[in-house]
Amino acid sequence: MSQRRLFVTTALPYANGNFHIGHMMEYIQADIWVRFQRMQGHAVNFVCADDTHGAPIMIAAEKAGKTPQQFVADIAAGRSQYLDGFHIGFDNWHSTDAPENHALAQQIYRDLRDLSADQGGTLIERKTIEQFFDLEKNMFLPDRFIKGECPKCGAKDQYGDNCENCGAVYAPTDLKNPYSGLSGATPVLKHAEHFFFKLSDPRCVEFLQDWTQNGTHLQPEVANKVKEWFSVRSNPDGTTSEGLGDWDISRDAPYFGIEIPDAPGKYFYVWLDAPIGYLASLKNLLDKRGESFDDYIASPDVEQYHFIGKDIVTFHTLFWPAILKFSGRKTPDKVFVHGFLTVNNGEKMSKSRGTGLDPLKYLKLGMNPEWLRYYLAAKLNGRNEDIDFNAEDFMARVNSDLVGKYINIASRAAGFISKRFEGKLGAVSADGQALLAQLQNGLAAIADLFDQRDYAKALRDAMALADRVNEYVDANKPWELAKKPDMDARLQDVCTTCIEAFRLLSTMLKPVLPQLAAQVESFLKIEPMTFNNAAKPLGAGHVIGSYTHLMQRVDEKML
Ligand code: MSP
Ligand code: ZN
Repeated sequence: MSQRRLFVTTALPYANGNFHIGHMMEYIQADIWVRFQRMQGHAVNFVCADDTHGAPIMIAAEKAGKTPQQFVADIAAGRSQYLDGFHIGFDNWHSTDAPENHALAQQIYRDLRDLSADQGGTLIERKTIEQFFDLEKNMFLPDRFIKGECPKCGAKDQYGDNCENCGAVYAPTDLKNPYSGLSGATPVLKHAEHFFFKLSDPRCVEFLQDWTQNGTHLQPEVANKVKEWFSVRSNPDGTTSEGLGDWDISRDAPYFGIEIPDAPGKYFYVWLDAPIGYLASLKNLLDKRGESFDDYIASPDVEQYHFIGKDIVTFHTLFWPAILKFSGRKTPDKVFVHGFLTVNNGEKMSKSRGTGLDPLKYLKLGMNPEWLRYYLAAKLNGRNEDIDFNAEDFMARVNSDLVGKYINIASRAAGFISKRFEGKLGAVSADGQALLAQLQNGLAAIADLFDQRDYAKALRDAMALADRVNEYVDANKPWELAKKPDMDARLQDVCTTCIEAFRLLSTMLKPVLPQLAAQVESFLKIEPMTFNNAAKPLGAGHVIGSYTHLMQRVDEKML
């Protein structure tokens, strides 16, 4: 297979707080996929960045007595302990406030603004709108700081841009009984001139209908949801909405963001420059390596993938592809949407609040990060579905599957190989060969499941194969062979089969358990494992290192 070039991102987290376990789930999902692609020999650039702009961060910085720049720098400084701690292998972590992003956002805006008549004319329009203004704070209120009742489902205390209850997207002025989230006052409407991206333009609508519905870029369940946004809808108040509306991309000072060229006092709305931050982080990475960003990003063979959560689908399936397309750039190949992680039966995590399961506390308690990677992988199936973290389930999966079924294979066989055969592997006889053939045959299907992001099935299949190996161990009882005279050859044969099987299972688990895989490679004294090189057995005479325990069980007290 020829080497593919992949550009992979996860959503850029708001720089207004530390990571919660939901963020880690997204990074783990993407990291497993990237590690798998790298094992296949593909060249991946895997980047992320802090999403720094917007009024909420500006306001949080003010409260903390810091400049916004200082505020986001402090958040950025705390990122690596989480990322390193859970073995998330980003190639670069950048910031949407970095110079690359200012330049790219302004350039993309100019490209959209300056479309010639031949090309159908500009896609940027100025309109005067009415917007909520907080008389006590003397500023226009950002969407997130206007709260009220959802115009669609009536849920209380919803934000001004979308409803967390029913997913509706709307303008703040659509909210019922609005109030300022800053001062609590009832806001007043004031005129302001704003810049809009003309998403309702027939060029955009036609392009997006195809892009979202042609079956190549989105999961089917996501494409179906997006489809609704194109049709004329009837609103609860009896009016109708026209399908895709124009997108308000400007905010008035005071705002922490990127200035709009030739428009003093106007800034890009954070969601305009946020996804451009994907490109900025990539550019920063390639610049550091002395490679050309312009060449890379324009190459037809480079595949672009975005991992995101279900709450930010509009931005990634409408605005983002449209902006790229009409500014003359390549559009993403796929957007992979995941559901939300809840903790202990549906306890929801808000954007700013964490839950009882703090990733850093998890690490500080000495809990193994690969337990969490394994557990989440066992639940992630590549579809847009919520998953629940459940402490008992966590313990059961790690202790009985990961340690009980997989690690045990090595611990049951390796001691004999070291003590009785000086670490040397022997020949594998027919029954062992038959067992190993089953594992060999499983490899391709499991690789395919990783590629499809169905890690849950990949791990189920791997554990079913581990069951076969354990049945073989139980049938052959190496600990009894070891006590019998004249059974040395059979003992070496059985233990060799186990070690070969353990190596194959380790290959299958490597995208999920990278650190463990590295330990296995050094214990077995082998080259980095890949799905392709797994076919070649270690062979009789290969000398393995001495076994040190690879993974502990979860201690109930820790939870
Ligand atoms: N800053 C925006 C994204 C900009 S992308 C150009 C944002 N940030 S966020 O910090 O709120 O969320 C970052 C990612 O984490 C999103 O993909 C979001 O869906 C995901 N998650 C947030 N909470 C989550 C869970 N509880 N579970 C799983 N993913 C979750 O949105
Ligand atoms: Zn609602």
